Amino acid sequence: MWLFSLLLLFFSNYVRCQDNTTSTDELQEGLNISTISSSPKDVLTLLLMGDTQFHFPCEEDNVQCKMVSKRPRSRFFLNSRLEFIYGVEVNETLRQGRDSCTKIESRFANRVQRQALDALISSLDYKPAALVINGDLTDFGHLHQLHEFRQVWYNNFPIPFILGLGNHDYQNNIDDCALNFCAHTMLSWYADYVKNMSLIADIQRKTVKFDVEFTGSLAYTERVCSGSGKLCAYIIQLNNAIDYNVQFSSLFVKWNISSPMKYLHNELNLLGSTSLPILLNMHQCESMHIHKIRMMLKRWMSNVKTIFESNQRVPKIGAFYAHMHQRHEVSLECIEGYKVPFVYIGSVPNNRFSKFDMNSTTATITGYKARDSLMHNGEILEELETVELWGPCTRNEIIRFEDHSTRKRRNFIRKTRNQMDKTANSESEFL
Ligand SMILES: *[C@@H]1O[C@H](CO)[C@@H](O)[C@H](O)[C@H]1NC(C)=O
Ligand SMILES: *[C@@H]1O[C@H](CO)[C@@H](O)[C@H](O)[C@H]1NC(C)=O
Ligand SMILES: *[C@@H]1O[C@H](CO)[C@@H](O)[C@H](O)[C@H]1NC(C)=O
Ligand SMILES: *[C@@H]1O[C@H](CO)[C@@H](O)[C@H](O)[C@H]1NC(C)=O
Ligand SMILES: *[C@@H]1O[C@H](CO)[C@@H](O)[C@H](O)[C@H]1NC(C)=O
Ligand SMILES: *[C@@H]1O[C@H](CO)[C@@H](O)[C@H](O)[C@H]1NC(C)=O
Repeated sequence: MWLFSLLLLFFSNYVRCQDNTTSTDELQEGLNISTISSSPKDVLTLLLMGDTQFHFPCEEDNVQCKMVSKRPRSRFFLNSRLEFIYGVEVNETLRQGRDSCTKIESRFANRVQRQALDALISSLDYKPAALVINGDLTDFGHLHQLHEFRQVWYNNFPIPFILGLGNHDYQNNIDDCALNFCAHTMLSWYADYVKNMSLIADIQRKTVKFDVEFTGSLAYTERVCSGSGKLCAYIIQLNNAIDYNVQFSSLFVKWNISSPMKYLHNELNLLGSTSLPILLNMHQCESMHIHKIRMMLKRWMSNVKTIFESNQRVPKIGAFYAHMHQRHEVSLECIEGYKVPFVYIGSVPNNRFSKFDMNSTTATITGYKARDSLMHNGEILEELETVELWGPCTRNEIIRFEDHSTRKRRNFIRKTRNQMDKTANSESEFL
Protein backbone atom coordinates (compact mmCIF):
# COMPACT_ATOMS: atom_id res chain seq x y z
CA MET A 1 0.00 0.00 0.00
CA TRP A 2 2.70 2.50 0.98
CA LEU A 3 4.58 1.55 -2.14
CA PHE A 4 1.53 2.56 -4.10
CA SER A 5 1.36 5.94 -2.31
CA LEU A 6 5.06 6.40 -2.96
CA LEU A 7 4.51 5.79 -6.64
CA LEU A 8 1.59 8.19 -6.59
CA LEU A 9 3.74 10.79 -4.90
CA PHE A 10 6.45 10.33 -7.45
CA PHE A 11 3.92 10.57 -10.21
CA SER A 12 2.28 13.72 -8.87
CA ASN A 13 5.70 15.34 -8.66
CA TYR A 14 6.32 14.31 -12.19
CA VAL A 15 3.04 15.80 -13.33
CA ARG A 16 4.00 19.09 -11.75
CA CYS A 17 6.98 19.42 -14.01
CA GLN A 18 4.72 19.43 -17.03
CA ASP A 19 2.63 22.24 -15.69
CA ASN A 20 3.32 25.86 -14.92
CA THR A 21 1.14 25.91 -11.84
CA THR A 22 0.85 23.78 -8.74
CA SER A 23 -0.95 20.48 -9.06
CA THR A 24 -3.85 19.74 -6.75
CA ASP A 25 -2.41 16.33 -5.86
CA GLU A 26 0.52 18.02 -4.33
CA LEU A 27 -1.80 20.30 -2.38
CA GLN A 28 -3.70 17.35 -0.96
CA GLU A 29 -0.46 15.83 0.11
CA GLY A 30 0.67 19.17 1.57
CA LEU A 31 -2.53 19.79 3.49
CA ASN A 32 -1.65 17.81 6.55
CA ILE A 33 2.10 18.18 6.33
CA SER A 34 2.41 20.31 9.47
CA THR A 35 0.59 17.66 11.48
CA ILE A 36 2.94 14.90 10.32
CA SER A 37 5.46 14.44 13.10
CA SER A 38 8.62 16.39 12.43
CA SER A 39 11.59 16.17 14.75
CA PRO A 40 11.38 18.91 17.38
CA LYS A 41 14.54 20.58 16.16
CA ASP A 42 13.62 20.57 12.48
CA VAL A 43 13.63 24.13 11.07
CA LEU A 44 12.97 25.65 7.67
CA THR A 45 15.19 28.70 7.29
CA LEU A 46 15.28 31.24 4.46
CA LEU A 47 17.46 34.30 4.09
CA LEU A 48 16.00 37.37 2.40
CA MET A 49 17.36 40.65 1.04
CA GLY A 50 17.13 43.01 -1.91
CA ASP A 51 19.13 45.44 -3.98
CA THR A 52 22.63 44.12 -4.58
CA GLN A 53 22.31 46.83 -7.23
CA PHE A 54 25.76 47.05 -8.77
CA HIS A 55 26.60 49.97 -8.47
CA PHE A 56 24.58 52.16 -6.15
CA PRO A 57 25.61 54.36 -3.20
CA CYS A 58 25.12 53.19 0.39
CA GLU A 59 22.41 54.46 2.64
CA GLU A 60 23.44 57.44 4.79
CA ASP A 61 22.69 55.39 7.91
CA ASN A 62 25.29 52.83 6.83
CA VAL A 63 28.03 54.52 8.85
CA GLN A 64 30.76 51.95 8.17
CA CYS A 65 30.26 52.35 4.40
CA LYS A 66 30.35 56.14 4.54
CA MET A 67 33.58 55.93 6.53
CA VAL A 68 35.19 53.95 3.72
CA SER A 69 34.21 56.51 1.08
CA LYS A 70 35.01 59.54 3.23
CA ARG A 71 38.46 60.35 1.89
CA PRO A 72 37.70 59.86 -1.84
CA ARG A 73 34.45 61.81 -1.37
CA SER A 74 36.24 64.83 0.01
CA ARG A 75 38.72 64.66 -2.86
CA PHE A 76 35.89 64.99 -5.37
CA PHE A 77 33.79 67.50 -3.36
CA LEU A 78 31.00 65.03 -2.60
CA ASN A 79 28.76 65.03 0.45
CA SER A 80 27.57 61.86 2.19
CA ARG A 81 24.75 61.47 -0.33
CA LEU A 82 27.34 61.60 -3.12
CA GLU A 83 26.08 64.98 -4.30
CA PHE A 84 28.52 67.72 -5.25
CA ILE A 85 28.97 70.29 -2.53
CA TYR A 86 27.17 73.55 -3.31
CA GLY A 87 29.14 75.96 -5.48
CA VAL A 88 31.58 73.47 -7.00
CA GLU A 89 32.06 73.74 -10.74
CA VAL A 90 31.46 70.20 -11.93
CA ASN A 91 33.72 68.87 -14.70
CA GLU A 92 34.46 65.47 -16.19
CA THR A 93 37.13 64.63 -13.59
CA LEU A 94 34.69 65.21 -10.76
CA ARG A 95 31.96 63.23 -12.50
CA GLN A 96 34.30 60.28 -12.89
CA GLY A 97 35.26 60.73 -9.25
CA ARG A 98 31.63 60.37 -8.28
CA ASP A 99 31.32 57.16 -10.30
CA SER A 100 34.34 55.70 -8.61
CA CYS A 101 33.01 56.65 -5.14
CA THR A 102 29.72 54.95 -6.03
CA LYS A 103 31.63 51.81 -6.96
CA ILE A 104 33.68 51.93 -3.76
CA GLU A 105 30.50 52.08 -1.66
CA SER A 106 28.60 49.45 -3.64
CA ARG A 107 31.50 47.00 -3.60
CA PHE A 108 32.08 47.56 0.11
CA ALA A 109 28.41 47.00 0.99
CA ASN A 110 28.19 43.86 -1.16
CA ARG A 111 31.42 42.41 0.26
CA VAL A 112 30.37 43.05 3.86
CA GLN A 113 26.92 41.57 3.19
CA ARG A 114 28.39 38.51 1.50
CA GLN A 115 30.84 37.88 4.36
CA ALA A 116 28.10 38.24 6.97
CA LEU A 117 25.82 35.81 5.14
CA ASP A 118 28.67 33.30 4.73
CA ALA A 119 29.41 33.54 8.45
CA LEU A 120 25.75 33.16 9.40
CA ILE A 121 25.20 30.18 7.11
CA SER A 122 28.23 28.31 8.41
CA SER A 123 27.18 28.99 12.02
CA LEU A 124 23.73 27.43 11.60
CA ASP A 125 23.03 23.78 12.47
CA TYR A 126 20.60 23.58 9.57
CA LYS A 127 21.49 25.13 6.25
CA PRO A 128 18.94 27.66 5.00
CA ALA A 129 16.91 26.38 2.05
CA ALA A 130 17.69 29.48 -0.04
CA LEU A 131 18.77 33.09 -0.26
CA VAL A 132 15.92 35.16 -1.69
CA ILE A 133 17.06 38.32 -3.51
CA ASN A 134 14.03 40.41 -4.37
CA GLY A 135 15.21 42.50 -7.25
CA ASP A 136 17.57 45.22 -8.33
CA LEU A 137 20.37 42.79 -8.90
CA THR A 138 21.96 45.59 -10.95
CA ASP A 139 21.61 49.36 -11.10
CA PHE A 140 20.89 49.63 -14.82
CA GLY A 141 21.20 46.19 -16.41
CA HIS A 142 24.61 46.93 -17.98
CA LEU A 143 26.57 43.81 -18.89
CA HIS A 144 29.48 44.72 -16.61
CA GLN A 145 27.04 45.16 -13.70
CA LEU A 146 25.45 41.76 -14.28
CA HIS A 147 28.96 40.33 -14.57
CA GLU A 148 29.83 41.69 -11.15
CA PHE A 149 26.60 40.35 -9.63
CA ARG A 150 27.48 36.93 -10.98
CA GLN A 151 31.02 37.08 -9.66
CA VAL A 152 30.18 38.31 -6.17
CA TRP A 153 27.00 36.29 -5.59
CA TYR A 154 25.67 33.99 -8.26
CA ASN A 155 28.66 31.92 -9.31
CA ASN A 156 29.62 30.55 -5.91
CA PHE A 157 27.27 30.62 -2.99
CA PRO A 158 26.76 27.84 -0.41
CA ILE A 159 22.95 27.68 -0.74
CA PRO A 160 20.47 27.98 -3.65
CA PHE A 161 19.08 31.34 -4.80
CA ILE A 162 15.53 32.46 -5.34
CA LEU A 163 15.91 35.55 -7.49
CA GLY A 164 13.59 38.25 -8.74
CA LEU A 165 14.19 41.33 -10.88
CA GLY A 166 13.50 44.94 -9.88
CA ASN A 167 12.79 48.30 -11.50
CA HIS A 168 16.50 49.01 -11.90
CA ASP A 169 16.95 45.79 -13.87
CA TYR A 170 14.20 46.21 -16.48
CA GLN A 171 12.02 49.24 -15.92
CA ASN A 172 14.21 52.30 -15.44
CA ASN A 173 16.43 51.53 -18.42
CA ILE A 174 13.74 51.02 -21.06
CA ASP A 175 14.18 53.46 -23.97
CA ASP A 176 17.22 54.81 -22.15
CA CYS A 177 19.84 52.26 -23.19
CA ALA A 178 21.04 51.61 -26.77
CA LEU A 179 18.71 49.10 -28.50
CA ASN A 180 17.13 48.41 -25.11
CA PHE A 181 20.07 46.13 -24.61
CA CYS A 182 20.16 46.64 -20.80
CA ALA A 183 16.63 45.39 -20.11
CA HIS A 184 17.16 42.65 -22.69
CA THR A 185 20.38 41.57 -20.96
CA MET A 186 18.64 41.15 -17.63
CA LEU A 187 15.48 39.51 -18.95
CA SER A 188 17.30 37.01 -21.13
CA TRP A 189 19.70 36.17 -18.31
CA TYR A 190 16.72 35.74 -16.00
CA ALA A 191 14.90 33.51 -18.50
CA ASP A 192 18.09 31.45 -18.65
CA TYR A 193 18.23 31.31 -14.86
CA VAL A 194 14.67 30.00 -14.43
CA LYS A 195 15.32 27.43 -17.15
CA ASN A 196 18.57 26.24 -15.59
CA MET A 197 16.92 25.96 -12.18
CA SER A 198 13.99 23.99 -13.68
CA LEU A 199 11.62 26.60 -12.28
CA ILE A 200 8.25 26.55 -13.97
CA ALA A 201 7.95 30.23 -14.75
CA ASP A 202 5.08 31.95 -16.47
CA ILE A 203 6.94 32.74 -19.71
CA GLN A 204 6.56 31.38 -23.24
CA ARG A 205 9.12 31.60 -25.99
CA LYS A 206 7.83 31.77 -29.56
CA THR A 207 9.53 32.21 -32.90
CA VAL A 208 7.67 34.50 -35.27
CA LYS A 209 9.36 34.52 -38.71
CA PHE A 210 12.93 35.47 -37.79
CA ASP A 211 12.05 37.09 -34.48
CA VAL A 212 11.91 35.55 -31.03
CA GLU A 213 9.05 36.61 -28.79
CA PHE A 214 8.80 36.09 -25.03
CA THR A 215 5.36 36.45 -23.45
CA GLY A 216 4.34 36.15 -19.80
CA SER A 217 4.84 37.61 -16.33
CA LEU A 218 8.03 35.66 -15.46
CA ALA A 219 6.43 34.77 -12.12
CA TYR A 220 7.02 31.35 -10.59
CA THR A 221 6.11 29.28 -7.54
CA GLU A 222 8.67 27.19 -5.73
CA ARG A 223 8.13 24.86 -2.82
CA VAL A 224 11.04 24.97 -0.38
CA CYS A 225 11.54 22.52 2.48
CA SER A 226 13.73 21.95 5.51
CA GLY A 227 16.56 19.42 5.27
CA SER A 228 14.31 16.64 6.53
CA GLY A 229 11.71 17.58 3.90
CA LYS A 230 8.99 17.79 6.52
CA LEU A 231 8.60 21.54 6.93
CA CYS A 232 7.77 23.35 3.70
CA ALA A 233 6.59 26.70 2.38
CA TYR A 234 5.50 28.07 -0.98
CA ILE A 235 7.51 30.91 -2.39
CA ILE A 236 5.84 32.92 -5.13
CA GLN A 237 8.20 35.25 -6.96
CA LEU A 238 6.42 38.09 -8.76
CA ASN A 239 9.46 40.19 -9.76
CA ASN A 240 9.23 43.98 -10.00
CA ALA A 241 5.65 44.76 -8.92
CA ILE A 242 2.19 43.21 -8.85
CA ASP A 243 0.89 45.52 -11.62
CA TYR A 244 3.99 46.15 -13.73
CA ASN A 245 3.90 45.24 -17.41
CA VAL A 246 5.97 46.32 -20.40
CA GLN A 247 6.43 45.60 -24.11
CA PHE A 248 9.65 46.39 -25.93
CA SER A 249 11.98 45.09 -28.63
CA SER A 250 15.70 44.66 -28.70
CA LEU A 251 16.97 43.81 -32.20
CA PHE A 252 15.28 40.53 -33.10
CA VAL A 253 13.78 39.82 -29.71
CA LYS A 254 10.40 41.03 -28.50
CA TRP A 255 9.53 41.08 -24.81
CA ASN A 256 5.88 41.16 -23.80
CA ILE A 257 5.99 41.12 -20.01
CA SER A 258 2.56 41.05 -18.42
CA SER A 259 1.58 41.92 -14.87
CA PRO A 260 1.71 38.87 -12.53
CA MET A 261 -1.74 39.72 -11.18
CA LYS A 262 -3.56 36.95 -13.04
CA TYR A 263 -0.83 34.43 -12.24
CA LEU A 264 -1.04 35.22 -8.52
CA HIS A 265 -4.81 35.07 -8.57
CA ASN A 266 -4.68 31.57 -10.14
CA GLU A 267 -1.96 30.35 -7.78
CA LEU A 268 -3.84 31.52 -4.69
CA ASN A 269 -6.99 29.77 -5.91
CA LEU A 270 -5.02 26.58 -6.47
CA LEU A 271 -3.24 26.74 -3.12
CA GLY A 272 -6.62 27.38 -1.50
CA SER A 273 -6.46 26.39 2.12
CA THR A 274 -2.97 24.90 2.17
CA SER A 275 -1.50 24.62 5.64
CA LEU A 276 1.88 25.64 4.27
CA PRO A 277 2.90 29.29 4.53
CA ILE A 278 2.77 31.30 1.29
CA LEU A 279 5.47 33.92 0.89
CA LEU A 280 4.74 36.47 -1.83
CA ASN A 281 7.98 37.99 -3.04
CA MET A 282 8.37 41.08 -5.18
CA HIS A 283 10.69 44.03 -5.53
CA GLN A 284 8.45 46.98 -4.71
CA CYS A 285 5.18 47.23 -2.80
CA GLU A 286 4.33 50.89 -2.11
CA SER A 287 1.06 52.86 -2.54
CA MET A 288 -0.97 51.37 -5.42
CA HIS A 289 1.02 48.11 -5.40
CA ILE A 290 0.38 47.37 -1.73
CA HIS A 291 -3.25 48.36 -2.17
CA LYS A 292 -3.67 45.75 -4.93
CA ILE A 293 -1.92 43.04 -2.93
CA ARG A 294 -4.03 43.87 0.09
CA MET A 295 -7.29 43.64 -1.91
CA MET A 296 -6.23 40.31 -3.34
CA LEU A 297 -5.32 38.90 0.08
CA LYS A 298 -8.58 40.15 1.56
CA ARG A 299 -10.54 38.29 -1.09
CA TRP A 300 -8.45 35.14 -0.64
CA MET A 301 -8.70 35.29 3.14
CA SER A 302 -12.49 35.66 3.14
CA ASN A 303 -12.73 32.68 0.77
CA VAL A 304 -10.54 30.31 2.79
CA LYS A 305 -11.24 31.52 6.32
CA THR A 306 -13.99 29.02 7.12
CA ILE A 307 -11.94 26.08 5.83
CA PHE A 308 -9.04 27.10 8.05
CA GLU A 309 -11.29 27.57 11.04
CA SER A 310 -13.00 24.22 10.63
CA ASN A 311 -9.52 22.62 10.60
CA GLN A 312 -8.41 24.75 13.55
CA ARG A 313 -5.59 26.22 11.55
CA VAL A 314 -4.34 29.74 10.98
CA PRO A 315 -3.89 31.14 7.44
CA LYS A 316 -0.23 31.98 6.81
CA ILE A 317 0.48 34.40 4.02
CA GLY A 318 2.67 37.51 3.73
CA ALA A 319 4.41 39.89 1.34
CA PHE A 320 8.19 40.35 1.28
CA TYR A 321 9.95 43.12 -0.62
CA ALA A 322 12.80 45.64 -0.72
CA HIS A 323 13.26 48.70 -3.01
CA MET A 324 13.24 51.39 -0.27
CA HIS A 325 16.83 50.83 0.80
CA GLN A 326 16.63 52.48 4.21
CA ARG A 327 13.57 50.54 5.32
CA HIS A 328 13.76 47.31 7.28
CA GLU A 329 10.51 46.63 9.09
CA VAL A 330 7.55 44.34 9.59
CA SER A 331 4.03 45.69 9.35
CA LEU A 332 1.52 43.21 10.77
CA GLU A 333 -1.89 44.00 9.32
CA CYS A 334 -5.16 42.47 10.47
CA ILE A 335 -6.99 40.92 7.55
CA GLU A 336 -10.19 39.06 8.42
CA GLY A 337 -8.92 38.76 11.98
CA TYR A 338 -5.53 37.24 11.10
CA LYS A 339 -2.03 38.68 11.01
CA VAL A 340 -0.67 39.30 7.51
CA PRO A 341 2.95 40.49 7.53
CA PHE A 342 4.13 43.08 4.98
CA VAL A 343 7.89 43.06 5.29
CA TYR A 344 10.73 45.28 4.09
CA ILE A 345 13.38 42.57 4.13
CA GLY A 346 16.45 44.84 4.10
CA SER A 347 18.84 45.99 1.39
CA VAL A 348 22.52 45.63 0.57
CA PRO A 349 23.18 49.43 0.46
CA ASN A 350 21.95 49.49 4.06
CA ASN A 351 23.72 46.21 4.91
CA ARG A 352 20.56 44.68 6.25
CA PHE A 353 18.87 41.35 5.64
CA SER A 354 16.32 39.04 7.26
CA LYS A 355 16.10 35.42 8.35
CA PHE A 356 12.81 33.56 8.20
CA ASP A 357 12.55 30.54 10.53
CA MET A 358 9.74 28.09 10.79
CA ASN A 359 9.40 25.04 13.03
CA SER A 360 6.37 22.85 13.62
CA THR A 361 4.69 25.47 15.81
CA THR A 362 6.01 28.95 15.05
CA ALA A 363 7.26 31.14 12.19
CA THR A 364 9.41 34.19 12.85
CA ILE A 365 11.48 36.75 11.01
CA THR A 366 14.69 38.18 12.46
CA GLY A 367 16.51 41.27 11.22
CA TYR A 368 20.29 41.43 10.82
CA LYS A 369 22.86 44.11 10.27
CA ALA A 370 25.98 43.01 8.38
CA ARG A 371 29.15 44.62 9.68
CA ASP A 372 32.68 44.92 8.45
CA SER A 373 34.76 42.65 10.63
CA LEU A 374 37.82 44.94 10.75
CA MET A 375 35.82 47.94 11.91
CA HIS A 376 33.94 45.91 14.51
CA ASN A 377 36.61 43.69 16.07
CA GLY A 378 35.52 40.63 14.16
CA GLU A 379 31.84 41.01 15.08
CA ILE A 380 30.37 40.54 11.68
CA LEU A 381 26.69 40.19 12.54
CA GLU A 382 24.36 42.23 14.68
CA GLU A 383 21.16 40.34 15.40
CA LEU A 384 18.14 42.65 15.63
CA GLU A 385 14.55 41.97 16.77
CA THR A 386 12.64 38.75 16.11
CA VAL A 387 8.98 39.05 15.14
CA GLU A 388 6.37 36.29 15.15
CA LEU A 389 4.58 36.35 11.81
CA TRP A 390 1.17 34.68 11.97
CA GLY A 391 -1.80 34.16 14.26
CA PRO A 392 -4.99 35.91 15.36
CA CYS A 393 -4.79 39.70 15.01
CA THR A 394 -6.38 42.40 17.13
CA ARG A 395 -4.62 45.54 15.89
CA ASN A 396 -2.17 46.61 13.19
CA GLU A 397 1.42 46.88 14.36
CA ILE A 398 4.72 48.08 12.88
CA ILE A 399 8.05 46.77 14.13
CA ARG A 400 11.16 48.57 12.80
CA PHE A 401 14.47 46.78 12.95
CA GLU A 402 17.03 49.07 14.53
CA ASP A 403 20.73 48.49 14.90
CA HIS A 404 23.08 49.97 17.44
CA SER A 405 24.13 52.98 15.36
CA THR A 406 20.69 53.92 14.00
CA ARG A 407 19.29 53.77 17.53
CA LYS A 408 22.06 56.07 18.74
CA ARG A 409 21.44 58.45 15.86
CA ARG A 410 17.68 58.50 16.45
CA ASN A 411 18.15 59.20 20.17
CA PHE A 412 20.56 61.98 19.31
CA ILE A 413 18.10 63.58 16.87
CA ARG A 414 15.29 63.26 19.41
CA LYS A 415 17.41 64.84 22.13
CA THR A 416 18.46 67.81 20.02
CA ARG A 417 14.88 68.28 18.86
CA ASN A 418 13.65 68.28 22.46
CA GLN A 419 16.32 70.80 23.38
CA MET A 420 15.34 73.00 20.46
CA ASP A 421 11.69 72.77 21.51
CA LYS A 422 12.65 73.74 25.05
CA THR A 423 14.66 76.74 23.83
CA ALA A 424 11.80 77.74 21.55
CA ASN A 425 9.37 77.45 24.45
CA SER A 426 11.50 79.49 26.82
CA GLU A 427 12.00 82.09 24.09
CA SER A 428 8.27 82.33 23.53
CA GLU A 429 7.83 82.95 27.27
CA PHE A 430 9.76 86.16 26.84
CA LEU A 431 7.49 87.41 24.08
C1 LIG B 1 -5.92 15.82 7.58
O1 LIG B 1 -6.13 15.67 8.97
C2 LIG B 1 -7.49 15.65 9.36
C3 LIG B 1 -7.58 15.53 10.87
O2 LIG B 1 -6.45 16.03 11.50
C4 LIG B 1 -8.21 14.46 8.68
O3 LIG B 1 -9.59 14.46 9.01
C5 LIG B 1 -8.05 14.58 7.17
O4 LIG B 1 -8.60 13.43 6.52
C6 LIG B 1 -6.58 14.70 6.78
N1 LIG B 1 -6.50 14.99 5.35
C7 LIG B 1 -5.68 14.33 4.54
C8 LIG B 1 -5.68 14.75 3.11
O5 LIG B 1 -4.92 13.45 4.93
C1 LIG C 1 9.60 26.79 17.62
O1 LIG C 1 10.21 28.08 17.64
C2 LIG C 1 9.78 28.89 18.71
C3 LIG C 1 10.35 30.29 18.51
O2 LIG C 1 11.69 30.25 18.15
C4 LIG C 1 10.17 28.25 20.01
O3 LIG C 1 9.75 29.05 21.10
C5 LIG C 1 9.54 26.87 20.11
O4 LIG C 1 9.98 26.22 21.25
C6 LIG C 1 9.89 26.03 18.89
N1 LIG C 1 9.09 24.81 18.91
C7 LIG C 1 9.61 23.62 18.65
C8 LIG C 1 8.68 22.47 18.69
O5 LIG C 1 10.81 23.49 18.39
C1 LIG D 1 38.03 69.61 -12.54
O1 LIG D 1 37.86 70.35 -11.33
C2 LIG D 1 38.78 70.02 -10.30
C3 LIG D 1 38.38 70.79 -9.04
O2 LIG D 1 37.99 72.09 -9.31
C4 LIG D 1 40.20 70.30 -10.73
O3 LIG D 1 41.12 69.96 -9.73
C5 LIG D 1 40.49 69.51 -12.01
O4 LIG D 1 41.77 69.80 -12.49
C6 LIG D 1 39.45 69.81 -13.07
N1 LIG D 1 39.66 68.90 -14.20
C7 LIG D 1 39.64 69.32 -15.46
C8 LIG D 1 39.90 68.27 -16.51
O5 LIG D 1 39.45 70.46 -15.74
C1 LIG E 1 22.64 28.22 -17.57
O1 LIG E 1 23.35 27.06 -17.96
C2 LIG E 1 24.27 27.27 -19.04
C3 LIG E 1 24.84 25.92 -19.41
O2 LIG E 1 25.32 25.25 -18.30
C4 LIG E 1 25.34 28.27 -18.61
O3 LIG E 1 26.23 28.50 -19.69
C5 LIG E 1 24.66 29.58 -18.21
O4 LIG E 1 25.62 30.48 -17.71
C6 LIG E 1 23.61 29.32 -17.14
N1 LIG E 1 22.90 30.56 -16.88
C7 LIG E 1 22.46 30.89 -15.69
C8 LIG E 1 21.78 32.21 -15.57
O5 LIG E 1 22.58 30.19 -14.70
C1 LIG F 1 1.17 40.62 -24.96
O1 LIG F 1 0.64 39.43 -24.45
C2 LIG F 1 -0.73 39.47 -24.14
C3 LIG F 1 -1.11 38.13 -23.55
O2 LIG F 1 -0.42 37.91 -22.37
C4 LIG F 1 -1.54 39.77 -25.38
O3 LIG F 1 -2.90 39.89 -25.06
C5 LIG F 1 -1.04 41.07 -26.02
O4 LIG F 1 -1.70 41.30 -27.24
C6 LIG F 1 0.45 41.01 -26.24
N1 LIG F 1 0.94 42.31 -26.68
C7 LIG F 1 1.79 42.47 -27.69
C8 LIG F 1 2.20 43.88 -27.99
O5 LIG F 1 2.26 41.52 -28.31
C1 LIG G 1 0.12 28.49 -17.46
O1 LIG G 1 -0.26 29.70 -16.83
C2 LIG G 1 -1.08 30.55 -17.62
C3 LIG G 1 -1.27 31.86 -16.89
O2 LIG G 1 -1.30 31.69 -15.51
C4 LIG G 1 -2.39 29.81 -17.95
O3 LIG G 1 -3.21 30.64 -18.76
C5 LIG G 1 -2.08 28.52 -18.69
O4 LIG G 1 -3.24 27.79 -18.93
C6 LIG G 1 -1.10 27.67 -17.88
N1 LIG G 1 -0.66 26.51 -18.65
C7 LIG G 1 -0.80 25.28 -18.21
C8 LIG G 1 -0.23 24.22 -19.08
O5 LIG G 1 -1.34 25.03 -17.15
